[in-house]
Amino acid sequence: MDPAIQVTGLTKSFGTHTVLDGLDLTVERGEIFALLGPNGAGKTTAITVLTTLVRPDAGQVVVAGHDVRRDPDAVKARIALTGQSAAVDEALNARENIAMFGRLSGLGARRSRERADELLARFGLSDAARRRVATFSGGMRRRLDLALSFVVQPQILFLDEPTTGLDTRSRRDVWDTITSLASAGTTVFLTTQYLEEADQLADRIAVLDGGRIVALGTADELKARSGGETVELRAQAGDLIDAVPTDGTVAGLRLALDRFDARGLEGVVSLRRPTLDDVFLDLTERTSPVGRDARRDVLVPDAEVAR
Ligand SMILES: Nc1ncnc2c1ncn2[C@@H]1O[C@H](COP(=O)(O)OP(=O)(O)OP(=O)(O)O)[C@@H](O)[C@H]1O
Ligand SMILES: [Mg+2]
Repeated sequence: MDPAIQVTGLTKSFGTHTVLDGLDLTVERGEIFALLGPNGAGKTTAITVLTTLVRPDAGQVVVAGHDVRRDPDAVKARIALTGQSAAVDEALNARENIAMFGRLSGLGARRSRERADELLARFGLSDAARRRVATFSGGMRRRLDLALSFVVQPQILFLDEPTTGLDTRSRRDVWDTITSLASAGTTVFLTTQYLEEADQLADRIAVLDGGRIVALGTADELKARSGGETVELRAQAGDLIDAVPTDGTVAGLRLALDRFDARGLEGVVSLRRPTLDDVFLDLTERTSPVGRDARRDVLVPDAEVAR
Protein backbone atom coordinates (compact mmCIF):
# COMPACT_ATOMS: atom_id res chain seq x y z
CA MET A 1 0.00 0.00 0.00
CA ASP A 2 1.27 3.50 -0.81
CA PRO A 3 2.30 5.55 2.19
CA ALA A 4 -0.05 8.32 3.34
CA ILE A 5 2.63 10.96 2.94
CA GLN A 6 5.85 10.80 0.95
CA VAL A 7 8.17 13.81 1.04
CA THR A 8 11.44 13.82 -0.91
CA GLY A 9 13.96 16.65 -0.98
CA LEU A 10 11.45 19.29 0.14
CA THR A 11 13.02 22.75 0.12
CA LYS A 12 11.31 25.96 1.13
CA SER A 13 12.92 29.36 1.62
CA PHE A 14 11.54 32.73 2.60
CA GLY A 15 13.84 35.25 0.93
CA THR A 16 17.38 34.16 1.74
CA HIS A 17 16.24 32.14 4.76
CA THR A 18 16.11 28.41 3.92
CA VAL A 19 13.58 26.95 6.33
CA LEU A 20 13.26 23.43 4.92
CA ASP A 21 16.48 22.16 3.41
CA GLY A 22 15.89 18.92 1.55
CA LEU A 23 13.36 17.37 3.92
CA ASP A 24 12.67 13.66 3.46
CA LEU A 25 9.97 11.75 5.30
CA THR A 26 7.45 8.98 4.87
CA VAL A 27 4.30 8.55 6.92
CA GLU A 28 2.54 5.20 6.71
CA ARG A 29 -1.25 4.89 6.53
CA GLY A 30 -2.97 4.79 9.89
CA GLU A 31 0.11 6.05 11.66
CA ILE A 32 0.28 8.87 14.22
CA PHE A 33 3.39 10.78 13.22
CA ALA A 34 4.78 13.62 15.33
CA LEU A 35 7.07 16.34 14.04
CA LEU A 36 9.06 17.87 16.86
CA GLY A 37 11.32 20.86 16.65
CA PRO A 38 12.34 23.98 18.52
CA ASN A 39 10.59 27.30 17.84
CA GLY A 40 11.20 28.40 14.28
CA ALA A 41 12.38 24.96 13.12
CA GLY A 42 9.89 24.98 10.26
CA LYS A 43 7.12 22.73 11.61
CA THR A 44 4.29 25.04 10.56
CA THR A 45 6.00 25.65 7.23
CA ALA A 46 6.12 21.89 6.63
CA ILE A 47 2.42 21.57 7.49
CA THR A 48 1.42 24.43 5.18
CA VAL A 49 3.31 22.82 2.28
CA LEU A 50 1.87 19.36 2.97
CA THR A 51 -1.65 20.81 3.12
CA THR A 52 -1.18 22.72 -0.18
CA LEU A 53 -1.41 26.19 1.41
CA VAL A 54 2.17 27.06 0.44
CA ARG A 55 4.05 25.84 -2.65
CA PRO A 56 7.40 24.12 -2.15
CA ASP A 57 10.44 25.58 -3.94
CA ALA A 58 11.77 22.13 -4.78
CA GLY A 59 11.22 18.49 -4.01
CA GLN A 60 8.33 16.11 -4.30
CA VAL A 61 5.42 16.00 -1.85
CA VAL A 62 2.77 13.32 -2.32
CA VAL A 63 -0.14 13.36 0.12
CA ALA A 64 -2.94 10.77 0.01
CA GLY A 65 -1.61 9.62 -3.36
CA HIS A 66 -1.61 13.06 -5.01
CA ASP A 67 1.15 15.55 -5.72
CA VAL A 68 0.56 18.81 -3.81
CA ARG A 69 1.80 20.91 -6.73
CA ARG A 70 0.12 19.10 -9.60
CA ASP A 71 -3.14 18.20 -7.90
CA PRO A 72 -3.78 20.35 -4.81
CA ASP A 73 -7.58 19.95 -5.05
CA ALA A 74 -7.34 16.16 -4.86
CA VAL A 75 -5.11 16.50 -1.79
CA LYS A 76 -7.46 19.01 -0.13
CA ALA A 77 -10.43 16.70 -0.63
CA ARG A 78 -8.71 13.98 1.42
CA ILE A 79 -7.24 15.92 4.34
CA ALA A 80 -8.27 18.15 7.22
CA LEU A 81 -6.21 20.74 9.01
CA THR A 82 -6.74 22.30 12.44
CA GLY A 83 -6.69 26.01 12.83
CA GLN A 84 -9.99 26.42 11.04
CA SER A 85 -10.66 29.57 13.08
CA ALA A 86 -11.10 31.51 9.86
CA ALA A 87 -14.19 29.38 9.33
CA VAL A 88 -15.65 30.19 12.75
CA ASP A 89 -18.46 32.72 12.68
CA GLU A 90 -18.30 34.83 15.84
CA ALA A 91 -21.96 35.76 15.61
CA LEU A 92 -23.13 32.14 15.65
CA ASN A 93 -23.13 29.83 18.63
CA ALA A 94 -20.84 26.81 18.89
CA ARG A 95 -23.46 24.28 17.79
CA GLU A 96 -24.48 26.37 14.79
CA ASN A 97 -20.84 26.73 13.79
CA ILE A 98 -20.20 23.01 13.77
CA ALA A 99 -23.50 22.23 12.07
CA MET A 100 -22.76 24.84 9.39
CA PHE A 101 -19.34 23.33 8.84
CA GLY A 102 -21.02 19.92 8.50
CA ARG A 103 -23.37 21.27 5.82
CA LEU A 104 -20.42 22.83 3.95
CA SER A 105 -18.65 19.48 4.19
CA GLY A 106 -21.58 17.73 2.53
CA LEU A 107 -23.46 16.29 5.51
CA GLY A 108 -27.25 16.60 5.59
CA ALA A 109 -28.90 19.06 7.99
CA ARG A 110 -29.99 16.45 10.52
CA ARG A 111 -26.67 14.59 10.45
CA SER A 112 -24.83 17.92 10.80
CA ARG A 113 -26.76 18.77 13.98
CA GLU A 114 -26.17 15.29 15.41
CA ARG A 115 -22.48 15.53 14.61
CA ALA A 116 -22.37 18.95 16.27
CA ASP A 117 -23.85 17.51 19.47
CA GLU A 118 -21.43 14.57 19.45
CA LEU A 119 -18.43 16.82 18.97
CA LEU A 120 -19.56 19.39 21.52
CA ALA A 121 -19.83 16.60 24.09
CA ARG A 122 -16.49 15.14 23.09
CA PHE A 123 -14.71 18.47 23.46
CA GLY A 124 -16.41 19.48 26.68
CA LEU A 125 -18.45 22.25 25.09
CA SER A 126 -21.98 20.93 25.59
CA ASP A 127 -22.74 23.52 28.27
CA ALA A 128 -21.55 26.26 25.93
CA ALA A 129 -23.33 24.87 22.86
CA ARG A 130 -25.71 27.81 22.61
CA ARG A 131 -23.29 30.57 23.52
CA ARG A 132 -22.02 32.90 20.84
CA VAL A 133 -18.40 32.14 19.98
CA ALA A 134 -17.55 35.81 20.49
CA THR A 135 -17.85 35.15 24.25
CA PHE A 136 -15.51 32.10 24.28
CA SER A 137 -12.21 31.90 26.15
CA GLY A 138 -9.00 31.01 24.30
CA GLY A 139 -9.16 27.38 25.40
CA MET A 140 -12.80 27.06 24.32
CA ARG A 141 -11.98 28.47 20.88
CA ARG A 142 -9.13 26.00 20.56
CA ARG A 143 -11.49 23.12 21.31
CA LEU A 144 -14.06 24.44 18.85
CA ASP A 145 -11.30 24.67 16.20
CA LEU A 146 -10.43 21.07 16.86
CA ALA A 147 -14.06 19.97 16.79
CA LEU A 148 -14.41 21.49 13.32
CA SER A 149 -11.52 19.44 11.97
CA PHE A 150 -13.23 16.27 13.20
CA VAL A 151 -16.61 16.95 11.52
CA VAL A 152 -15.87 14.66 8.58
CA GLN A 153 -13.36 11.90 9.07
CA PRO A 154 -10.51 12.71 6.68
CA GLN A 155 -7.94 10.26 5.29
CA ILE A 156 -5.20 12.35 6.81
CA LEU A 157 -5.57 14.80 9.67
CA PHE A 158 -2.96 17.54 10.11
CA LEU A 159 -2.73 19.09 13.55
CA ASP A 160 -0.37 21.99 14.18
CA GLU A 161 0.23 22.02 17.93
CA PRO A 162 -3.22 20.64 18.74
CA THR A 163 -3.08 21.06 22.49
CA THR A 164 -1.14 24.28 22.95
CA GLY A 165 -3.04 26.43 25.42
CA LEU A 166 -5.28 23.64 26.68
CA ASP A 167 -5.51 22.56 30.31
CA THR A 168 -4.53 19.02 31.31
CA ARG A 169 -8.07 17.66 31.15
CA SER A 170 -8.80 19.04 27.68
CA ARG A 171 -5.40 17.88 26.48
CA ARG A 172 -6.24 14.32 27.51
CA ASP A 173 -9.61 14.56 25.75
CA VAL A 174 -7.88 15.66 22.57
CA TRP A 175 -5.36 12.83 22.87
CA ASP A 176 -8.20 10.32 23.27
CA THR A 177 -9.94 11.73 20.22
CA ILE A 178 -6.77 11.56 18.13
CA THR A 179 -6.12 7.98 19.24
CA SER A 180 -9.65 6.87 18.41
CA LEU A 181 -9.49 8.51 14.98
CA ALA A 182 -6.21 6.77 14.26
CA SER A 183 -7.58 3.41 15.32
CA ALA A 184 -10.48 4.00 12.90
CA GLY A 185 -7.90 4.37 10.11
CA THR A 186 -7.15 8.09 9.88
CA THR A 187 -3.48 8.98 9.47
CA VAL A 188 -2.47 11.76 11.85
CA PHE A 189 0.40 14.16 11.23
CA LEU A 190 0.94 16.48 14.16
CA THR A 191 3.47 18.99 15.35
CA THR A 192 4.01 19.60 19.00
CA GLN A 193 6.20 21.39 21.49
CA TYR A 194 5.24 18.90 24.18
CA LEU A 195 7.55 15.94 24.29
CA GLU A 196 5.08 14.17 26.54
CA GLU A 197 2.47 14.51 23.83
CA ALA A 198 4.71 12.89 21.21
CA ASP A 199 5.65 10.21 23.73
CA GLN A 200 2.00 9.41 24.55
CA LEU A 201 0.54 9.61 21.08
CA ALA A 202 2.96 9.07 18.29
CA ASP A 203 3.87 5.79 16.63
CA ARG A 204 6.95 7.56 15.29
CA ILE A 205 8.59 10.86 16.06
CA ALA A 206 10.75 12.97 13.75
CA VAL A 207 12.95 15.71 15.15
CA LEU A 208 13.27 18.67 12.79
CA ASP A 209 16.32 20.89 13.10
CA GLY A 210 18.25 22.94 10.60
CA GLY A 211 15.60 22.26 7.95
CA ARG A 212 16.11 18.50 8.04
CA ILE A 213 15.05 15.48 10.05
CA VAL A 214 17.89 14.84 12.53
CA ALA A 215 16.30 11.85 14.26
CA LEU A 216 13.43 9.50 13.52
CA GLY A 217 12.00 6.59 15.42
CA THR A 218 9.64 5.41 18.11
CA ALA A 219 9.83 7.19 21.46
CA ASP A 220 11.72 4.22 22.87
CA GLU A 221 14.21 4.18 20.00
CA LEU A 222 14.90 7.87 20.43
CA LYS A 223 15.30 7.52 24.19
CA ALA A 224 17.77 4.69 23.66
CA ARG A 225 19.96 7.16 21.75
CA SER A 226 20.35 9.23 24.89
CA GLY A 227 22.08 6.41 26.72
CA GLY A 228 21.09 4.71 29.95
CA GLU A 229 19.94 5.82 33.33
CA THR A 230 21.35 8.63 35.41
CA VAL A 231 21.91 8.64 39.17
CA GLU A 232 20.77 12.03 40.38
CA LEU A 233 21.53 13.74 43.65
CA ARG A 234 19.07 16.41 44.66
CA ALA A 235 18.67 18.79 47.58
CA GLN A 236 15.56 18.31 49.75
CA ALA A 237 13.97 21.19 47.82
CA GLY A 238 14.50 19.26 44.59
CA ASP A 239 17.37 21.24 43.04
CA LEU A 240 19.81 19.07 41.11
CA ILE A 241 23.23 18.90 42.81
CA ASP A 242 24.99 16.27 40.70
CA ALA A 243 24.18 13.57 38.16
CA VAL A 244 26.18 10.55 37.07
CA PRO A 245 25.34 8.35 34.09
CA THR A 246 25.16 4.71 35.08
CA ASP A 247 24.64 1.27 33.58
CA GLY A 248 22.09 0.56 36.31
CA THR A 249 24.11 -2.25 37.95
CA VAL A 250 24.92 -2.41 41.66
CA ALA A 251 28.56 -1.68 40.85
CA GLY A 252 27.55 1.28 38.71
CA LEU A 253 25.38 2.74 41.48
CA ARG A 254 28.19 2.25 43.98
CA LEU A 255 30.55 4.20 41.70
CA ALA A 256 28.06 7.04 41.51
CA LEU A 257 27.66 7.13 45.29
CA ASP A 258 31.46 7.06 45.70
CA ARG A 259 31.68 10.08 43.46
CA PHE A 260 29.14 11.99 45.54
CA ASP A 261 31.11 10.99 48.67
CA ALA A 262 34.43 12.02 47.18
CA ARG A 263 32.98 15.45 46.52
CA GLY A 264 31.42 15.65 49.98
CA LEU A 265 27.92 16.00 48.52
CA GLU A 266 24.78 15.23 50.54
CA GLY A 267 21.21 14.87 49.33
CA VAL A 268 18.46 12.60 48.06
CA VAL A 269 19.45 9.97 45.49
CA SER A 270 17.24 8.77 42.65
CA LEU A 271 17.60 6.90 39.37
CA ARG A 272 16.26 8.68 36.29
CA ARG A 273 15.56 7.01 32.96
CA PRO A 274 16.27 9.00 29.79
CA THR A 275 13.32 11.07 28.60
CA LEU A 276 12.44 12.53 25.25
CA ASP A 277 13.59 15.87 26.69
CA ASP A 278 17.14 14.50 26.82
CA VAL A 279 16.93 13.41 23.20
CA PHE A 280 15.43 16.68 22.10
CA LEU A 281 18.00 18.82 23.88
CA ASP A 282 20.89 16.69 22.65
CA LEU A 283 19.72 16.82 19.07
CA THR A 284 18.71 20.46 18.88
CA GLU A 285 21.54 21.99 20.90
CA ARG A 286 22.63 24.26 18.07
CA THR A 287 19.40 26.20 18.09
CA SER A 288 18.46 25.87 21.73
CA PRO A 289 19.98 28.45 24.07
CA VAL A 290 19.22 26.22 27.05
CA GLY A 291 20.35 23.08 25.25
CA ARG A 292 23.25 20.88 26.05
CA ASP A 293 25.47 23.64 27.42
CA ALA A 294 23.18 24.00 30.40
CA ARG A 295 23.48 20.28 31.06
CA ARG A 296 27.13 19.74 30.24
CA ASP A 297 28.32 20.14 33.81
CA VAL A 298 26.03 17.36 34.99
CA LEU A 299 27.03 14.80 32.36
CA VAL A 300 30.34 13.03 32.00
CA PRO A 301 31.73 13.19 28.44
CA ASP A 302 31.23 9.55 27.55
CA ALA A 303 27.50 9.91 28.13
CA GLU A 304 27.21 12.29 25.22
CA VAL A 305 25.26 10.95 22.31
CA ALA A 306 27.11 10.27 19.12
CA ARG A 307 25.50 12.47 16.49
N1 LIG B 1 5.60 33.71 5.39
C1 LIG B 1 6.84 33.81 5.90
N2 LIG B 1 7.69 34.77 5.50
C2 LIG B 1 8.95 34.86 6.00
N3 LIG B 1 9.45 34.03 6.92
C3 LIG B 1 8.66 33.05 7.36
C4 LIG B 1 7.32 32.89 6.89
N4 LIG B 1 6.77 31.82 7.51
C5 LIG B 1 7.73 31.34 8.34
N5 LIG B 1 8.85 32.07 8.26
C6 LIG B 1 10.12 31.83 8.98
O1 LIG B 1 10.45 30.47 8.82
C7 LIG B 1 10.98 29.92 10.01
C8 LIG B 1 10.18 28.70 10.42
O2 LIG B 1 8.90 29.11 10.82
P1 LIG B 1 7.77 28.10 11.25
O3 LIG B 1 6.58 28.90 11.62
O4 LIG B 1 7.59 27.07 10.20
O5 LIG B 1 8.43 27.43 12.54
P2 LIG B 1 7.77 26.48 13.64
O6 LIG B 1 8.68 25.30 13.75
O7 LIG B 1 6.36 26.22 13.31
O8 LIG B 1 7.91 27.36 14.95
P3 LIG B 1 6.93 27.43 16.26
O9 LIG B 1 7.37 26.30 17.14
O10 LIG B 1 7.30 28.74 16.86
O11 LIG B 1 5.52 27.34 15.81
C9 LIG B 1 10.96 31.04 11.03
O12 LIG B 1 12.25 31.63 11.08
C10 LIG B 1 9.96 32.01 10.47
O13 LIG B 1 10.27 33.31 10.85
MG1 LIG C 1 4.58 26.62 14.30
